[in-house]
Amino acid sequence: MRILVLQGPNLNLLGTREPGTYGTATLQDVQDQLDEVAAAIGVTLEHYQHNSEGALVDRIQQARVAGVAGAVVNAGAYTHTSVALRDALLGTELPFVEVHISNVYAREEFRHKSLLSDVARGLVVGLGIYGYELGLRGLVSGLR
Ligand code: DQA
Repeated sequence: MRILVLQGPNLNLLGTREPGTYGTATLQDVQDQLDEVAAAIGVTLEHYQHNSEGALVDRIQQARVAGVAGAVVNAGAYTHTSVALRDALLGTELPFVEVHISNVYAREEFRHKSLLSDVARGLVVGLGIYGYELGLRGLVSGLR
């Protein structure tokens, strides 16, 4: 089973970006840790990070065509704004979990609204990068 790990804008800056909020692990650290979990549970991950909304939409469409089973999605700021990402996930019927490193509900009000949550299989917020592992395990368990 192949799972897409989709990371939105500014997540390439993990490690140096607002470490008090997002921690000090880099995106590479996140990917390496997730690859270990994936190997343990017998799935293959495809990692993709992009800062552009359209590139993320394209990657979702491509994943569905290529037979990817589901996605772990941290859409970053596009979570709160992107009808296009929501439509791509709905239009492809790609099952996904939504992950946020920080507790978005303890932050600015504009982060309390997600355009993805009601169409996600589940959500993990505020548990740091461990949330990616939980999201992956939950997604795969639901798909099996
Ligand atoms: C984030 C939360 C978003 O509000 C923010 O724009 C991000 C990261 C998180 O993982 O906590 O870029 O998705």
